[in-house]
Amino acid sequence: MLHLAPLFWGRLFTVLIVTAGSCSPIYAKTVSGDFRLSGLQSHRVLVSFAVVPDGARVSVNLTASSMYENERFLQLRMYRDVEWSKVIKAKTCTEMIRHASQTQQLSFDYKNKQWKSEEKTALIFNSDKGTSRRPHYWYIVVDDCSLEQVMQDLKIPPIHYELRIQNHIPQKNTDGGRPEMVLTHLSADELPLTRVHSVSLLLSSLITLLICMLIGSQLVSKHTVHVALLWVAAAAALDAASSLCELIHIKVYQGNGVGSYLFDALSAHAEAVCDALVMLLLLSIAAGWTLPSDMLSMNPNQSVVQLLLSDLSKPMGAIQHWNAGTALGLAVLALHVVLAQWGRTYNDDFESYHDLEHLPGKILMAVRFVLGLLCLAATMQTRWKCRAKQLEQFYLNLAIAGFAWFQSLPVLVVICNTFVPYYVRHPAIVTGSALLQSVALGLLAWLVTSHSSAYHQVSHLTSSAETSLTDSLSQAAGGQARGVADTKTWSFGKSKIRLD
Ligand SMILES: *[C@@H]1O[C@H](CO)[C@@H](O)[C@H](O)[C@H]1NC(C)=O
Repeated sequence: MLHLAPLFWGRLFTVLIVTAGSCSPIYAKTVSGDFRLSGLQSHRVLVSFAVVPDGARVSVNLTASSMYENERFLQLRMYRDVEWSKVIKAKTCTEMIRHASQTQQLSFDYKNKQWKSEEKTALIFNSDKGTSRRPHYWYIVVDDCSLEQVMQDLKIPPIHYELRIQNHIPQKNTDGGRPEMVLTHLSADELPLTRVHSVSLLLSSLITLLICMLIGSQLVSKHTVHVALLWVAAAAALDAASSLCELIHIKVYQGNGVGSYLFDALSAHAEAVCDALVMLLLLSIAAGWTLPSDMLSMNPNQSVVQLLLSDLSKPMGAIQHWNAGTALGLAVLALHVVLAQWGRTYNDDFESYHDLEHLPGKILMAVRFVLGLLCLAATMQTRWKCRAKQLEQFYLNLAIAGFAWFQSLPVLVVICNTFVPYYVRHPAIVTGSALLQSVALGLLAWLVTSHSSAYHQVSHLTSSAETSLTDSLSQAAGGQARGVADTKTWSFGKSKIRLD
């Protein structure tokens, strides 16, 4: 049965990628909301949107709950990204509106006991002559500059808006005629993302599948498997789930212009938990997990960090008995979940260009930086205290790779925010972090399944004959012989999961 599985998955992926990759341009990106202008806040940004080189169409409906007296001052304005930095710095409304690329007068009609504007439609083009071939962010704003001069805040009614924006996408005509223009809701910076998520889904699922097959074969042949394999399989599965949920969200978004809040949130959380699992695994291995206990001379009573590291070196013990390692593990997991949820509350539209630009994203980067230092310290200490000299090279490599992985995302964000133009920042961050995660999962999969390095010969990870091999090696390295009973396991019927 097992040999059929790759075939089935291959099919599934082909179907997924084809459905995810094909554009079905039906509706548009739709946003709605309520606002009330005042003397202090005489404008309101309704949406920002990355417009493709071929332009886009915006339509807006406004409803006011009572009469808007000075409606001749109420305007809909469209700003292009190149002017937006000046707009943000403008001190007054009059100064700000000078930078608008387009202006439309808004007005209300009294119909069915409601003040409604008739639908306002505008076409936006990235440059006057159609010469700009890059996408531009556009900001759609409603303002009433007269409010800055006259105090009449109490007379201003709350306004409800509904807005739709669609990109023009030229489609190749199969019969050789003129290319047809179709409209899509997808923002220009989101168009390449389906491909990135599809590739990352493919890679992570492959890793998950391979490890699961290995777990299956080890359980059949030896009735025992190391828990680290399950750990990496879980992380890879979460990464795959995250990409899948994001693809579903994009698909729904293509249909209704709003997307699926549920799948978008699930994707963010799966990614966050996957990150936390990878971090904790790296920290545990850095602290000396899976080494025979007599190979490491640690003194947990020396300092708090020592205690933490010695707890980290037995992560499964931390699950069974509460200790400092448990606290750190739970804190890292909880922090990731909380930050992912907090990040959801930010509007990707005009508060940030990508998920790591807002406050929760920045906290996440700081946490990664600090844990990266901890990982480096843990690895160097393990290298120093380990009695098996043949492991020095391994721990040096681990120190470099682990530290590089922890710092890679913060560095990527800094590079993106400094050197990459803002209209490609979102795809750059998504592509970069997906790539980093796939590489990390691939390396971890190698680490828990390979038999090739000196580390694998000493550690419990891949020891096939329970403890006999590691015992003889640790004896050779000057350690004490240990009994078989020393190996901690969870038993499920005949199968055993090795924990240390
Ligand atoms: C605005 O209202 C009209 C008529 O009710 C409707 O056909 C149109 O779809 C609405 N536009 C938006 C952007 O909601």
